Amino acid sequence: MTLEAIPLSGAMGAEIRGADLRDIDDETFADIHKILLGHGMIFFRDQDITPTQQLAFAKRWGEPHFHPYMPGLPDHPEIIEIVKNPEDTHTFGGQWHTDQMFTPTPAMGTMLYAKEVPEAGGDTLFGNLYLAYDALSDGMKAAIANLRTFNLYDKKKGRSSVMKGKLKEPEKPAEPAIHPLVRPHGETDKPVLYICYDRITRHIVDWTPEESRPLLDYLRAHATRPEFTCRLRWEPGPLAFWDNRCVQHMALNDYHGYRRVMHRITIRGERTS
Ligand code: SIN
Repeated sequence: MTLEAIPLSGAMGAEIRGADLRDIDDETFADIHKILLGHGMIFFRDQDITPTQQLAFAKRWGEPHFHPYMPGLPDHPEIIEIVKNPEDTHTFGGQWHTDQMFTPTPAMGTMLYAKEVPEAGGDTLFGNLYLAYDALSDGMKAAIANLRTFNLYDKKKGRSSVMKGKLKEPEKPAEPAIHPLVRPHGETDKPVLYICYDRITRHIVDWTPEESRPLLDYLRAHATRPEFTCRLRWEPGPLAFWDNRCVQHMALNDYHGYRRVMHRITIRGERTS
């Protein structure tokens, strides 16, 4: 297959043309992998794939991860079906985050396949965390170089309780995760500003929440500057894959009254703490 990569914005993201995800050979996969490392998020339009084919493509990237709270499809427990119905007001993933940062082994990557989308709305935003780090001043880079963050997601306290009935009981209690605030990417080794929204990245290790908040809030706002982002408008059929090691994302909740259904698989990452 001859692939073409078309950048989605100046900051990140690329559409890959020329790939049929039902049948990817090793050489084509190596090219796709390289494009991912260069663009952080890739997507393929007009893919007509079954859950088994989606899973087979996901396994090319690594071992699928089982979400502690979200149940999978009965025949494919690795695939989470994210559904927002017309009467729902909450959307899954509606704040800037990187997946499973609340665990010691956050996801390496996430794959989202659009099954049903509203005519307008429900786009996903992505942010390049390499650019966010690079744009900091030398003084700020020096100040945060050795800081570590305390990350915890307590489902019982979180707003996800509005998804009650859709969540499963985790097998073990939530375990806090400590991550470097500046985290080298596992493959490129380039530094990334590694941060999540405030109910997950709660404070800096050895600092109180009150001391941490002004700095973390500043860095969170900085990391979402529009010039570090791209926006993916869905239609039925595209499959996107992003690199959680250097990309954050957020689902837009601007389509009340319509239904949106996505099939998501996350790939297990490495332990950093
Ligand atoms: C997610 O956070 O993985 C969901 C993103 C989306 O549904 O657009």
